[in-house]
Amino acid sequence: MESWQGLIDSGYRRWLPVTDRTPSVSLNEGNTPLLRSRHLSDLTGCDVRLKVEGANPTGSFKDRGMTVAISKAAEDGAELVLCASTGNTSASAAAYAARAGITSAVLVPAGRVALGKLGQAVRYGARIVEVAGTFDDCLRIARDLADHHPIALVNSVGNELRLSGQQTVAYETVDALGAAPDIHCLPVGNGGNITATWRGYRTFHTAGRIGLLPRMWGFQAAGAAPLVHGEPVAEPQTAASAIRVGNPATWQGAVDARDESDGLIGAVTDEQIFDAYRLLARKDGVFVEPASAAGVAGLLDRHDRGLLTPGQTIVITLTGNGLKDQDASLRDGYTRSRPARPPPKSPARSPTRPWRQ
Ligand code: F0G
Repeated sequence: MESWQGLIDSGYRRWLPVTDRTPSVSLNEGNTPLLRSRHLSDLTGCDVRLKVEGANPTGSFKDRGMTVAISKAAEDGAELVLCASTGNTSASAAAYAARAGITSAVLVPAGRVALGKLGQAVRYGARIVEVAGTFDDCLRIARDLADHHPIALVNSVGNELRLSGQQTVAYETVDALGAAPDIHCLPVGNGGNITATWRGYRTFHTAGRIGLLPRMWGFQAAGAAPLVHGEPVAEPQTAASAIRVGNPATWQGAVDARDESDGLIGAVTDEQIFDAYRLLARKDGVFVEPASAAGVAGLLDRHDRGLLTPGQTIVITLTGNGLKDQDASLRDGYTRSRPARPPPKSPARSPTRPWRQ
């Protein structure tokens, strides 16, 4: 079998806005596992599948969009790529820019990014600017800079290329299941991923690859749920730092995905998010970052309230890898005990007949 070469070269070139002139800047992203969750399936009476996006090269779904965005930036001769981020976009942008030999700069909210993500951006060589403000402030500054300087902005806003790459998660899901699921659950922050996933299903529907479309169920953290309230949140609050977004840039796209699919965008509390975060690790052996558990939290919330019909096929995008946020893991229910003393050394044993000692 030929080995996987990434989304552009192996997977979905014909569905991506690339040409023969576009260099393929890839880390062999995509082709991530779609795991059946026995626990969630038994609990809900549905067939629940987990799309493990933390298996991407920089540990999140962002790599799907970034291979396209940076490949096009390289084709256009960009010298600097810029993004605002709660962490994962910056890690991904920095990695793909490094691979393309392009300088990257990232704007992140100071003190509000998981250290693993910051560590990635540092190691990949990004110029890092920590902003005393929220992610929304970072995005505003990034857009302003890109408007006035020759910079390639690789946030999904103003960069449809990112979204077209992220559509591939729907293509892979359909190719694995042979159809669309009944419901696709995922966390929502800036709104790009729900928009892209829905567009992916619609693209395959228009092309005749699927008959029925899924319902899109997006979930925001209760303290950062502007799409649920219908208005921006000035000071978004949640321990799930990746989705601490108060004014989603792809607002309309997210609302369209919800409405066109007859779906929903709901809120889950941090407690529900962390319950799901623990459950995924303990019952399915999948370690995600807290924000990534929001889709599972939302599904369980619907189930608990009797709003889930059994017998459906449900795909949940697990957006990022738990290794990125060890602080969250160690803060949550791990108390360090005093280190145990090693036993005293026993006398040397005979190498030939150890059992006689
Ligand atoms: N899950 C994770 C792990 C994320 O990093 C993000 C977004 C989302 C879910 C939500 O996706 O924004 O497309 O609705 N992270 C962005 C970032 C904001 O900068 O890394 P969305």
